Amino acid sequence: MSSSLNLDAQDVGTVRFSYGDQEIELPLIEGSEGERAIDISALRSRTGMITIDEGFVNTGSTRSSITFLDGEKGILRYRGYAIEDLAANCDFVEIAYLLINGELPNADQATEFRSGIRDHTMIHEDMRSFYNGFPRDAHPMAILSSVVGALSTFYQDSMQVDDPDQVEISIYRLLAKLPTIAAYSYKKSMGQPFMYPSNDLSYCENFLHMMFATPAEDHVVDPDFAEALNLLLIVHADHEQNCSTSTVRMVGSSNANLFASISAGIGALWGPLHGGANEACVNMLEQIAADGGNVKKYVDMAKDKNSNFRLMGFGHRVYKNFDPRAQIIRACCDKLLAKLKIDDPLFEVAQQLQEVALKDEYFVERKLYPNVDFYSGVIYRAMGIPVQMFTVLFAIGRLPGWIAHWKELHANPRNRINRPRQVYTGQTSRKTVPVEQR
Ligand code: ACO
Repeated sequence: MSSSLNLDAQDVGTVRFSYGDQEIELPLIEGSEGERAIDISALRSRTGMITIDEGFVNTGSTRSSITFLDGEKGILRYRGYAIEDLAANCDFVEIAYLLINGELPNADQATEFRSGIRDHTMIHEDMRSFYNGFPRDAHPMAILSSVVGALSTFYQDSMQVDDPDQVEISIYRLLAKLPTIAAYSYKKSMGQPFMYPSNDLSYCENFLHMMFATPAEDHVVDPDFAEALNLLLIVHADHEQNCSTSTVRMVGSSNANLFASISAGIGALWGPLHGGANEACVNMLEQIAADGGNVKKYVDMAKDKNSNFRLMGFGHRVYKNFDPRAQIIRACCDKLLAKLKIDDPLFEVAQQLQEVALKDEYFVERKLYPNVDFYSGVIYRAMGIPVQMFTVLFAIGRLPGWIAHWKELHANPRNRINRPRQVYTGQTSRKTVPVEQR
């Protein structure tokens, strides 16, 4: 696999700051889509000051050539290709290749990549016995993160971060094994035997087969489900410096191996403010449906500043116009629900919630639109995927993005261990007193 790192931010001048009677000029750089950033890396050495930006709302952590998004205009592009174009014309495995290698594969490259993944879909038999140790009600994200971390114990031959061959085999292993690890965690929760991967199936079909087939009864994968899953994985595949990707980069910056870095990213994704939102969203819809479907009550609660309640699946740190991923999967959601003719009060609630919130002044003013998690949860539910698996599916989708960022970080000559500073606000120097005097 070749790497195509292109760090092409340009120096476009300087910015001058004054403080007291001092003046300082800092470099201004511009990315290929015109965003500008002040390079403050020399600020502390020149002034003794640092910048502070809690939650990194306004801080660029790196130059990156993988994904571009413009939250104001609702644009998302992987390696320059619009998400709408990719979703209409490619499958998830091609997208994984694109993100990781920088270009869409030609026919030979695609064949080689798919076969490289197929070669590694099974997990070590000893690894299967891990599952015996997990409680049956363990959350599958906890299992996913643990088992992916444990890959480092099985593949000690591929942990050198500066050896391209070792990195390449780790990439194949991760892409191939994550669906197997994920499906086994579901089987464990059901008390059903694990189903081995079927390498004659596509990436998405194989996952659905491992989820829903049993040794007693084969399962014919519904092509519409495989298509919907393919779409969902594509729209989740990367999203630049989000919380889990930043985690993967941060862990990777210490030269931790790929398995350890991805395992940490899975932990970050689990949180309900990030990937866990799809699960939280369906739980919320269920709560509203069980409470008589009074959508207005919950919209009012989300607006009430005395309540901590938020409408899950609404709002986004970056998209302040619309979430292009949500638009793509909304169509898929409508199609699937129409085909399945499911009579589920939850879908009715989702529909009403969307309508009420989109017209409500509070949501309009704050630019809070349904995000990708709002529709993905509804689609997964329609496909019969249990709610605890939703974020696991997000992880399978996000894996190529995490890998691409991890690779980019290591190919970047500017890479240094990520180590932010702080403004200390605790006690100033003091001395201990004997315990009886405290
Ligand atoms: N429901 C009600 N009010 C909301 C919501 C919501 N879902 N989201 C934001 N707000 C309000 C806030 O209360 C705040 O109001 P204020 O200005 O009156 O104080 C304003 O909108 C701005 O919100 P912030 O929290 O400052 O926005 P931030 O960018 O920090 O948070 C986030 C973004 C975490 C996604 C937030 O919108 C949220 O909690 N949404 C629900 C969880 C969710 O769906 N997460 C999935 C994100 S997509 C993903 O990870 C793939």
